[in-house]
Amino acid sequence: MRKANNILELVGETPMLRIGKLADPGGAALWAKMEYLNPGHSVKDRIAVRIVEDYEKEGLLKPGGTVVEATSGNTGMGLAVVCAVKDYHTIFVMPDKVSDEKRRLLRAMGAEVVICPTSVGPDDPASYYSVSRRIAEETPGAVLADQYFNPSNTQTHIDTTGPEIWEQMEGQIDAFVASMGTGGTITGVSKYLKGKNPNIKVWAADPFGSILKEFKQTGEMTLGYPYLVEGIGEDIIPGNLDINLVDEIVNVTDEDSFYMSRQMARKEGILAGGSAGSIMHLAIEVAKGMRPDQNVVTIIPDTGERYLSKHFSDEWLREKGMLSRERVSLRRLRQMKDKELPAIVSVGPEATAREALEVMNKFNISQIPVLTGDENSGRLHDSSLLASALKDSAFLDEPVAAVMEAPFPSLDESASVAQSVQLLLRDQGVILTKDDRPVGFVTRHDIITFSDGK
Ligand SMILES: Cc1ncc(COP(=O)(O)O)c(C=O)c1O
Repeated sequence: MRKANNILELVGETPMLRIGKLADPGGAALWAKMEYLNPGHSVKDRIAVRIVEDYEKEGLLKPGGTVVEATSGNTGMGLAVVCAVKDYHTIFVMPDKVSDEKRRLLRAMGAEVVICPTSVGPDDPASYYSVSRRIAEETPGAVLADQYFNPSNTQTHIDTTGPEIWEQMEGQIDAFVASMGTGGTITGVSKYLKGKNPNIKVWAADPFGSILKEFKQTGEMTLGYPYLVEGIGEDIIPGNLDINLVDEIVNVTDEDSFYMSRQMARKEGILAGGSAGSIMHLAIEVAKGMRPDQNVVTIIPDTGERYLSKHFSDEWLREKGMLSRERVSLRRLRQMKDKELPAIVSVGPEATAREALEVMNKFNISQIPVLTGDENSGRLHDSSLLASALKDSAFLDEPVAAVMEAPFPSLDESASVAQSVQLLLRDQGVILTKDDRPVGFVTRHDIITFSDGK
């Protein structure tokens, strides 16, 4: 346990965590460097300390000075932590796609936040790169942290992140998988690790829409297009990226990144951002193709708490057309449906037809399962109960066991919505089970409403 004199001493020396359930058991062991456990909850705390201290050493940052930066949020947070301790002002310029939580966080730390459009080119005077430069030039006593071109960024990872990974893994590393924003992390770590062992293969996950993969392949700068994952991929070539130290770049979709980020929360308890999802998506593939005695190391750059209104929100994902049937579980669908309705409305076999009709009437539904304890024994339709009652009203006081029809099909609640479609072509509803016990019910109507995006 560490004892620190100020919060800056708690930056770095993050733990290395074995990824258990998400990794393919037949492939290489998968590890994650938990950078969201830094005090500002991202890998950027490391560079923030170094950049500020290097400016102090050079005499460019003096008491009462201001630190300006173009940041998608995490570097801002890191700098805000450092500048809070060291009493500097901060002004951060952010692209408008950045989540509201990130803007609020920086303001909470006492920073001034300026928002610029994402949709303009990097050379446009309105771009967040141009605006940050202008503010730094025009503000007396200000420095631009300049994470894209400031060599202190990469140097931080050569001096801290790389050696920590090497020591934690006791040199047993076969591949390193990261992403590229400024390029500082991947360049610094790769430089250090390859210096120790040139056979370590370095992979980068890059969003579709970023120009970096194409740049590595052809040396040409193409035009990027927008994507939703934050903090990674570029429409410029950052000075901190040495693309020769990255062996392979693989494009990952927003959907795969967000899906993996959500899986990491649900299966591993790691609530991380979308870039961690991109990295883990690629790392799982890389590890799958390797031997069980090999090790793949990844980075978890930031916390998922910054994206609660983004990819952790079902509504947001659905709005972006990324909540697909293949990936949403029946449990999730049930949670999304009418909150007034119990998870499962049923009667026991000893209930009378009158009682069953009353239950259906109360919840305004026309069919219900009959459950004998946890056993799925049968089903009742209001129309057939009413038809029998028309013939003989005494029927209403008979137990339903004698008249129930074949039970509804059942599926484990972890099955996807897509897996239930075949059953729902034949049947009106499906009982959801957990450990073979009935825990919920979804109908054709629920699935149609889900796909309508309502
Ligand atoms: C969420 C997130 N992930 C990954 C990165 C990439 O790290 P680097 O800039 O060191 O390439 C960043 C950088 O902005 C980031 O904000």
